[in-house]
Amino acid sequence: MISKKMVKALNEQINAEMYSAYLYLSMAAYFEAENLPGMAAWMRTQTQEETAHAMKFFDYIHERRGRVVLQAIDQPIEEWKSPLAAFEAAFEHEQMITGRIDDLVNLAVQEKDHATNAFLQWFVNEQVEEETSVDTIVQMLKMGEKAPGAMFMIDRELGQRTFTPPTQ
Ligand SMILES: [Fe+2]
Ligand SMILES: [Fe+2]
Repeated sequence: MISKKMVKALNEQINAEMYSAYLYLSMAAYFEAENLPGMAAWMRTQTQEETAHAMKFFDYIHERRGRVVLQAIDQPIEEWKSPLAAFEAAFEHEQMITGRIDDLVNLAVQEKDHATNAFLQWFVNEQVEEETSVDTIVQMLKMGEKAPGAMFMIDRELGQRTFTPPTQ
Protein backbone atom coordinates (compact mmCIF):
# COMPACT_ATOMS: atom_id res chain seq x y z
CA MET A 1 0.00 0.00 0.00
CA ILE A 2 1.15 3.49 -0.84
CA SER A 3 1.07 5.78 2.22
CA LYS A 4 -1.23 8.80 2.53
CA LYS A 5 1.84 10.97 3.05
CA MET A 6 3.37 9.75 -0.21
CA VAL A 7 0.13 10.30 -2.17
CA LYS A 8 -0.13 13.83 -0.77
CA ALA A 9 3.45 14.62 -1.82
CA LEU A 10 2.87 13.18 -5.33
CA ASN A 11 -0.30 15.26 -5.65
CA GLU A 12 1.71 18.36 -4.75
CA GLN A 13 4.14 17.44 -7.53
CA ILE A 14 1.27 17.34 -10.06
CA ASN A 15 0.66 20.95 -9.06
CA ALA A 16 4.36 21.84 -9.37
CA GLU A 17 4.52 20.31 -12.88
CA MET A 18 1.33 22.13 -13.93
CA TYR A 19 2.77 25.36 -12.56
CA SER A 20 5.94 24.69 -14.61
CA ALA A 21 3.76 24.28 -17.71
CA TYR A 22 2.00 27.55 -16.89
CA LEU A 23 5.25 29.42 -16.23
CA TYR A 24 6.69 28.30 -19.58
CA LEU A 25 3.45 29.21 -21.34
CA SER A 26 3.78 32.67 -19.81
CA MET A 27 7.34 32.81 -21.16
CA ALA A 28 6.00 31.74 -24.59
CA ALA A 29 3.58 34.68 -24.46
CA TYR A 30 6.45 37.01 -23.51
CA PHE A 31 8.57 35.78 -26.44
CA GLU A 32 5.62 36.20 -28.82
CA ALA A 33 5.32 39.81 -27.63
CA GLU A 34 9.07 40.28 -28.15
CA ASN A 35 8.85 39.01 -31.74
CA LEU A 36 10.93 35.92 -31.00
CA PRO A 37 8.73 33.14 -32.46
CA GLY A 38 11.43 30.45 -32.18
CA MET A 39 11.86 30.99 -28.44
CA ALA A 40 8.07 31.12 -28.07
CA ALA A 41 7.81 27.77 -29.90
CA TRP A 42 10.52 26.29 -27.66
CA MET A 43 8.59 27.36 -24.57
CA ARG A 44 5.32 25.97 -25.97
CA THR A 45 7.04 22.62 -26.41
CA GLN A 46 8.35 22.91 -22.85
CA THR A 47 4.76 23.47 -21.69
CA GLN A 48 3.71 20.22 -23.40
CA GLU A 49 6.57 18.40 -21.71
CA GLU A 50 5.66 19.69 -18.26
CA THR A 51 2.02 18.73 -18.81
CA ALA A 52 3.20 15.23 -19.75
CA HIS A 53 5.22 15.15 -16.49
CA ALA A 54 2.09 16.06 -14.51
CA MET A 55 0.20 13.27 -16.28
CA LYS A 56 2.89 10.73 -15.39
CA PHE A 57 2.28 11.53 -11.70
CA PHE A 58 -1.49 11.52 -12.31
CA ASP A 59 -1.36 8.03 -13.84
CA TYR A 60 1.05 6.67 -11.25
CA ILE A 61 -1.14 7.74 -8.30
CA HIS A 62 -4.06 5.86 -9.88
CA GLU A 63 -1.95 2.80 -10.60
CA ARG A 64 -1.19 2.65 -6.89
CA ARG A 65 -4.88 3.11 -6.09
CA GLY A 66 -4.36 6.57 -4.63
CA ARG A 67 -6.67 9.53 -5.09
CA VAL A 68 -5.63 12.47 -7.28
CA VAL A 69 -6.71 15.82 -5.84
CA LEU A 70 -5.99 18.83 -8.01
CA GLN A 71 -5.09 22.18 -6.49
CA ALA A 72 -5.15 25.75 -7.80
CA ILE A 73 -2.25 26.73 -10.04
CA ASP A 74 -0.45 29.95 -9.07
CA GLN A 75 -0.33 32.85 -11.51
CA PRO A 76 3.09 33.01 -13.17
CA ILE A 77 4.86 36.31 -13.78
CA GLU A 78 4.50 37.73 -17.29
CA GLU A 79 7.49 39.97 -17.90
CA TRP A 80 11.26 39.46 -17.92
CA LYS A 81 13.87 42.10 -18.58
CA SER A 82 15.44 40.18 -21.49
CA PRO A 83 15.31 36.77 -23.21
CA LEU A 84 18.44 35.89 -21.20
CA ALA A 85 16.66 36.80 -17.94
CA ALA A 86 13.72 34.57 -18.90
CA PHE A 87 15.96 31.56 -19.64
CA GLU A 88 17.92 32.21 -16.43
CA ALA A 89 14.61 32.17 -14.54
CA ALA A 90 13.73 28.89 -16.30
CA PHE A 91 17.08 27.42 -15.22
CA GLU A 92 16.51 28.46 -11.59
CA HIS A 93 13.02 27.00 -11.76
CA GLU A 94 14.37 23.65 -13.01
CA GLN A 95 16.91 23.58 -10.16
CA MET A 96 14.05 24.10 -7.71
CA ILE A 97 12.11 21.23 -9.36
CA THR A 98 15.18 18.99 -9.10
CA GLY A 99 15.23 19.72 -5.36
CA ARG A 100 11.56 18.74 -5.13
CA ILE A 101 12.19 15.44 -6.96
CA ASP A 102 15.08 14.70 -4.59
CA ASP A 103 12.77 15.38 -1.62
CA LEU A 104 10.22 12.95 -3.08
CA VAL A 105 12.91 10.26 -3.44
CA ASN A 106 13.96 10.86 0.18
CA LEU A 107 10.35 10.48 1.30
CA ALA A 108 9.93 7.25 -0.72
CA VAL A 109 13.04 5.85 0.98
CA GLN A 110 11.77 6.94 4.37
CA GLU A 111 8.39 5.30 3.68
CA LYS A 112 10.17 2.13 2.41
CA ASP A 113 8.19 2.60 -0.82
CA HIS A 114 10.46 0.97 -3.40
CA ALA A 115 7.90 1.17 -6.23
CA THR A 116 7.60 4.95 -5.88
CA ASN A 117 11.36 5.27 -5.59
CA ALA A 118 11.74 3.31 -8.87
CA PHE A 119 9.05 5.44 -10.54
CA LEU A 120 10.82 8.65 -9.45
CA GLN A 121 14.16 7.61 -10.97
CA TRP A 122 12.81 8.56 -14.42
CA PHE A 123 12.38 12.11 -13.10
CA VAL A 124 15.84 12.12 -11.48
CA ASN A 125 17.34 11.50 -14.94
CA GLU A 126 14.91 13.83 -16.68
CA GLN A 127 15.93 16.72 -14.41
CA VAL A 128 19.58 16.30 -15.40
CA GLU A 129 18.50 16.72 -19.04
CA GLU A 130 16.17 19.61 -18.26
CA GLU A 131 18.85 21.57 -16.43
CA THR A 132 21.44 20.91 -19.15
CA SER A 133 19.20 21.95 -22.04
CA VAL A 134 18.15 25.23 -20.39
CA ASP A 135 21.70 26.00 -19.25
CA THR A 136 22.96 25.47 -22.81
CA ILE A 137 20.54 28.14 -24.03
CA VAL A 138 21.58 30.52 -21.20
CA GLN A 139 25.21 30.10 -22.29
CA MET A 140 24.33 30.67 -25.97
CA LEU A 141 22.45 33.87 -25.12
CA LYS A 142 25.34 35.11 -22.97
CA MET A 143 27.83 34.50 -25.77
CA GLY A 144 25.55 36.17 -28.28
CA GLU A 145 24.91 39.21 -26.13
CA LYS A 146 27.30 41.45 -28.03
CA ALA A 147 27.21 39.79 -31.44
CA PRO A 148 24.84 41.45 -33.92
CA GLY A 149 22.30 39.04 -35.36
CA ALA A 150 22.95 36.42 -32.69
CA MET A 151 19.46 36.74 -31.20
CA PHE A 152 17.93 36.08 -34.62
CA MET A 153 20.12 32.99 -35.14
CA ILE A 154 19.40 31.58 -31.68
CA ASP A 155 15.69 32.23 -32.14
CA ARG A 156 15.70 30.37 -35.44
CA GLU A 157 17.61 27.44 -33.94
CA LEU A 158 15.28 27.13 -30.91
CA GLY A 159 12.29 27.14 -33.25
CA GLN A 160 13.44 23.74 -34.58
CA ARG A 161 12.52 21.91 -31.37
CA THR A 162 9.62 19.46 -31.55
CA PHE A 163 7.72 17.64 -28.83
CA THR A 164 8.37 13.95 -28.25
CA PRO A 165 6.12 12.40 -25.60
CA PRO A 166 8.08 10.90 -22.68
CA THR A 167 8.48 7.12 -22.73
CA GLN A 168 8.32 4.84 -19.72
FE1 LIG B 1 8.83 18.65 -15.17
FE1 LIG C 1 10.99 20.84 -16.32
